Amino acid sequence: MNDMFEKRNCSQQDRLIDRSNRHLNYLRVSITDRCNLNCTYCLPFSHQPRQSHHDILRYEEILHLIRIFRDLGISKIRITGGEPLVRKGIFPFLSRLNKISGIDDLSMTTNGMLLQDHLDKIKSAGIRRLNISLDSLNPKNYHRITGHDVFQKVWAGILAAEKMGFHPIKINVVALRGMNDHELTDMARLSLSHPFHIRFIEYMPIGDSALQLEKPLFTPEIQERISSLGALYPVERGKMDGPARRFRFKNAKGEIGFISPISHHFCQTCNRLRLTASGFLRTCLLSDHQTDLKTPLRSGFSDQQMADVILDAIRRKPTSHDLNSKQSAQVASSMSAIGG
Ligand code: 5AD
Repeated sequence: MNDMFEKRNCSQQDRLIDRSNRHLNYLRVSITDRCNLNCTYCLPFSHQPRQSHHDILRYEEILHLIRIFRDLGISKIRITGGEPLVRKGIFPFLSRLNKISGIDDLSMTTNGMLLQDHLDKIKSAGIRRLNISLDSLNPKNYHRITGHDVFQKVWAGILAAEKMGFHPIKINVVALRGMNDHELTDMARLSLSHPFHIRFIEYMPIGDSALQLEKPLFTPEIQERISSLGALYPVERGKMDGPARRFRFKNAKGEIGFISPISHHFCQTCNRLRLTASGFLRTCLLSDHQTDLKTPLRSGFSDQQMADVILDAIRRKPTSHDLNSKQSAQVASSMSAIGG
């Protein structure tokens, strides 16, 4: 009896619970900092030189770390980049990841550029949940924002994913005044005819690419602009829900979500950790602080020692970020390295 009691206590102590009593069960894993688009607000090519193969965690190492995180309480994983589909060997990696027990929710964020070519493989690997970044429905504007004239390709990929039964398909729209704000209603309208979750994300001024936007565009204004389509009805939250506040237009097939990291920050309920492609653990997207997991892993730390490094890092997870509506760039790291 005593023994069991002690074991239970011990494993509870090991769980990923931080000093603000937040239960961290969600790990976002960036598998590459490379991207095949060059979005004005992210610009992965403009920052530090790309990391070499040696700097990037091998798939084997990522799977190893994920098992350690799983034992500590992570049950939800999202694969991100850069653009994850540009990394060679991703499909066998996803299949192996999908077989790890205890991961209840596996999803991927992609810019959709290679989606059409790879949907079969993504599906066979066991991924059903996709987030696709799409900041414009207008081919010319899409080109302007992303630096590539590939809207039709991306859009065809999204429609093909819908046909193949991927669900939910979340469409991420970063709301940028002067760049795509004239399209917000068109984006929202998509939720009427498709089962997509259209998610409007407030722009976070981070990285060396931080846009000097004249005036930020926050959720209340986005809400106001799309209200011409009718009233929005709240959708009940799911157990695994992230920070999006979810709504639906009457009789719509899909949903509308608002992610408001600046105007309505959700730090108190943040359940996320991030693993960068080069093996650093980040406990807050909006802080430059990171913990090296690659060096101890490569130098032969045991799983228990790795778990201790991780637990130590999460004890220091910031309670709250201090990025505010002044919209000045305070975070130096780039999104393409962290994975959003
Ligand atoms: N602010 C808000 N969202 C961003 N994303 C990338 N950079 C930013 C930023 N600075 C979004 C991408 C992608 C998601 C992972 O994060 O559009 O959809």
